[in-house]
Amino acid sequence: MVTIAVIGAGYVGSASGACLADFGNHVICVDTDAEKIALLQKGILPIYEPGLGAVVERNIHSGRLVFTTDTAQALIKSTVVFITVGTPPSDDGGADLSALEAAARSIGAFIEKYTVVVNKSTVPIGAGRMVEGWIREELAKRGSRDKAGKAIEFDVVSNPEFLREGSAVYDFTHPDRVVVGTDSKRARRVMKNVYRPLYLSETSYIETTLESAEMIKYASNAFLAVKITFINEIANLCEKTGASVQDVALAMGRDNRIGAKFLHPGPGYGGSCFPKDTGALAKTGREHQAIQRIVEAAIGANNEQKIRAAKKIETVLNGSPAGKTLAVLGLAFKPNTSDIREAPAIFIVEYLAAKGAKFRVYDPAAMKEAEKRLAPFGDSVYFACDEYDAMENASALLIITEWNQFRNIDLFKVKESLAQPYFFDFRNIYKRKEAEAAGLYYFGTGKPGRHDHAGGKFQ
Ligand SMILES: NC(=O)c1ccc[n+]([C@@H]2O[C@H](COP(=O)([O-])OP(=O)(O)OC[C@H]3O[C@@H](n4cnc5c(N)ncnc54)[C@H](O)[C@@H]3O)[C@@H](O)[C@H]2O)c1
Repeated sequence: MVTIAVIGAGYVGSASGACLADFGNHVICVDTDAEKIALLQKGILPIYEPGLGAVVERNIHSGRLVFTTDTAQALIKSTVVFITVGTPPSDDGGADLSALEAAARSIGAFIEKYTVVVNKSTVPIGAGRMVEGWIREELAKRGSRDKAGKAIEFDVVSNPEFLREGSAVYDFTHPDRVVVGTDSKRARRVMKNVYRPLYLSETSYIETTLESAEMIKYASNAFLAVKITFINEIANLCEKTGASVQDVALAMGRDNRIGAKFLHPGPGYGGSCFPKDTGALAKTGREHQAIQRIVEAAIGANNEQKIRAAKKIETVLNGSPAGKTLAVLGLAFKPNTSDIREAPAIFIVEYLAAKGAKFRVYDPAAMKEAEKRLAPFGDSVYFACDEYDAMENASALLIITEWNQFRNIDLFKVKESLAQPYFFDFRNIYKRKEAEAAGLYYFGTGKPGRHDHAGGKFQ
C-alpha cells in the first residue's frame, strides 16, 4: 500500500484518486475549491461521470479515500503526489501552467521526506523539468533538510492520463497503456508499486523519459483530433458530391491500418482536451522551428467546421436566424458527461444567438453548466425539461450531441411539435428515409439526399 496525495480533484483527479484507492492504495485528494471538496466528502460527485460515484463511495467507506482542502497535511503524509490540476489554454494559445506551478511550489513547501511527484496534467514538453525547478526553489527557501537534518529528495515523473470523460473509471482501470516517464530508477520502482494491479496484468506498461512521456500525450491527442478533422472534411466533400460519408467511413474503417474509431463526422471536435492540446502542440512546434503543419491545419479546419455547422442552419432558415426559435438537443461536448468546455453545441448557440436566434435547449447532464455559460443571452435561451419540451413550436430541431436517449425519438411527435419541419441531425443518428417518412426535412452530415446533394439548395 502506498500513501498518495492527488492535487486537483476535477475530472482526472477524482477518477484517478478513487481508482488508485480501489487498487489498495491510501489516497488523499486535495482541491482548493472548498465547495467541491465538501460535496466529495459526502460522496456526492460535482460532475456527471457514470460509475464514478460508486467507486468514490466504496473507498470513502473503506477509509482508503479522503478528500480535503488541507494541502500541507496531504503532502506530509504521502510518499507519492499526483498533480492533476487544470492546464487550460492561455491567451497566447499555449497551456496556462499557473495551477501546475502553484501545485509544484506547495510540494516544495511541505514535503518532509523522499517523494515521487507524478504529473498527470497534460503539459507542454519541458514542463516536467519546470516542476522540478519550482520544487527545488521552494525546498531551498527552507533549507532542503528534514527534521533529522537529511536532505529532502524527490523525483519527477510524467504519467500522462488517457481516460475519457464518460468512461473514466473503465479507462483508468483498463488502459490501453500506462506511460511512465522519468530518469530515476527509484521513482520507477515506486510507480510499479502504485500501478501494481495493472503492471501485473496484461496492461502495456511503457517506461520512458520525462520528455517522451509528455510528447506521447500531445502526439496521441493531436493524432485523434486530426483523424476526426479528416473525416469531417471528407464529409463536407460528400455533401457536395452526393457520396455518403457513412458508407465511406464504414469501408475505410474495415482497413485495419486505418481503424473504425474516430471516423464519425460532426460539427467539429470540442472538449477540454483536443482543442487546447492541439493548440499547445502547434505552439511548441513553432517555438522550436518544427512547424506541425498537419496539426495547424486541423485546428483551422476544426474552427471552420463549427462555423460551417452554424451557417448550414442559417442557410436553411433563408439566411437569417433572427427571431427564429431553434431547439437544441445535447449541449455537453460529447454524451455521458456534463462537460461543456469548447462544446460545438455551445459554439453554435452563441454564434446564432448573437445574430438574434432564440433557443430551447436540453441536455441530460449539462443543464447547470449551460445555464451559467449562456446566462448573457437572458430570455433568448429557454432551458427545457426534456427533449419534447425543447422542440415545442421551434423552427428547427438540432441534435448536436448524440446522447442515447436522443437515438429513439418519436419523429412523428417531432413533426407535430415543430413550427417548421427542419431537422438537423449533426451526428447522423437517424436515417433520412425515416425522418422524411415523418414529414421532416432532414439534414445530416456528409449524406446525400433530396435537399443537399450536388448543386442542391442548402449545402
Ligand atoms: N478531462 C479529461 O478528459 C482529461 C483526460 C486526460 C487528461 N486531462 C488533463 O488532466 C488535467 C486536469 O483536467 P481536468 O479535466 O480534471 O480538470 P478540472 O478543471 O476538472 O480539474 C482541475 C482541478 O484542479 C483544482 N486545482 C487547481 N489548482 C489547484 C491547486 N493549486 N491545488 C489543488 N487543486 C487545484 C481545480 O479546483 C479543479 O478542481 C488537465 O491537464 C487535462 O488536460 C484531462
